[in-house]
Amino acid sequence: MSDTVLAVEGLVRDFGAFRAVNHVDLAVERGTIHAVIGPNGAGKSTLFKLITGSLRPTAGRVILNGQSIGGKRSHVIARRGLVQVFQLSSICGRLTVAESVALGLISQRHRGFDVASTYQRRARDEAVAILDQVGLVAHASSIAGTLSHGDQRALEIAMALAIKPTVLLLDEPTAGMSPAETAVIADLVVSEARARGITVVLSEHDMDVVFGISDHVTVLHQGQVIAGGTPAQVRSHPEVMAIYLGHAATAGEEAP
Ligand SMILES: Nc1ncnc2c1ncn2[C@@H]1O[C@H](COP(=O)(O)OP(=O)(O)OP(=O)(O)O)[C@@H](O)[C@H]1O
Ligand SMILES: [Mg+2]
Repeated sequence: MSDTVLAVEGLVRDFGAFRAVNHVDLAVERGTIHAVIGPNGAGKSTLFKLITGSLRPTAGRVILNGQSIGGKRSHVIARRGLVQVFQLSSICGRLTVAESVALGLISQRHRGFDVASTYQRRARDEAVAILDQVGLVAHASSIAGTLSHGDQRALEIAMALAIKPTVLLLDEPTAGMSPAETAVIADLVVSEARARGITVVLSEHDMDVVFGISDHVTVLHQGQVIAGGTPAQVRSHPEVMAIYLGHAATAGEEAP
């Protein structure tokens, strides 16, 4: 039985005369890993910003758990369970790794900051448990900003997991990573999402990652959905092969 946790209906976003997202429909099933792929400039990041509320749509609707979230502010959408992975650099690169995750835990419970409270100590214990799962427990007391690039991305995912999202959005989680770091992050996303029943929507240039971990793939091209289905269906879709996969053979090198 279909159980759509996130639906996008007729979403449009114009920048002046340019239409970056052109009547996009999307239905994301609960508990799945749903990839959005497409060449550079296809509109993936713009679509994600429309979903998370950091950009306003020109037209269309975004529905989370059956309720419209169109036009709501990002923090309201996050409280309803839709969370985009933070950029660590913009938030708390000077906190320790454990403090960064504890911040996510505390923000999720809407408590104020009281450094001396048992509550905060409990948040730290819980943070350490999450760090253990993502393989960062040895770095718990390190300053977040001093971690390697791959470890910082893993920490960003740990921070988002701490919020216990219903839907987690990841815009190119493996950008700029080595193949070894990419494999670690892909495994992490899959295992944590499955273990916690979190629905994941991700955009990703690395086709090995996309076809390896996704339940469903949506292909964007020039702001429009041109194909959607299982990895096997999308891989063999003629238009996708012609427009996208043909020149995505080198996607690993082209990713920023
Ligand atoms: N704020 C903006 N103002 C004007 N044009 C924009 C703006 N943001 C995005 N665009 C344009 O919208 C189109 C889609 O951009 P977007 O960043 O969503 O693509 P993308 O699929 O995420 O690409 P990439 O794979 O390179 O990350 C591009 O042509 C881009 O130049
Ligand atoms: Mg992008």
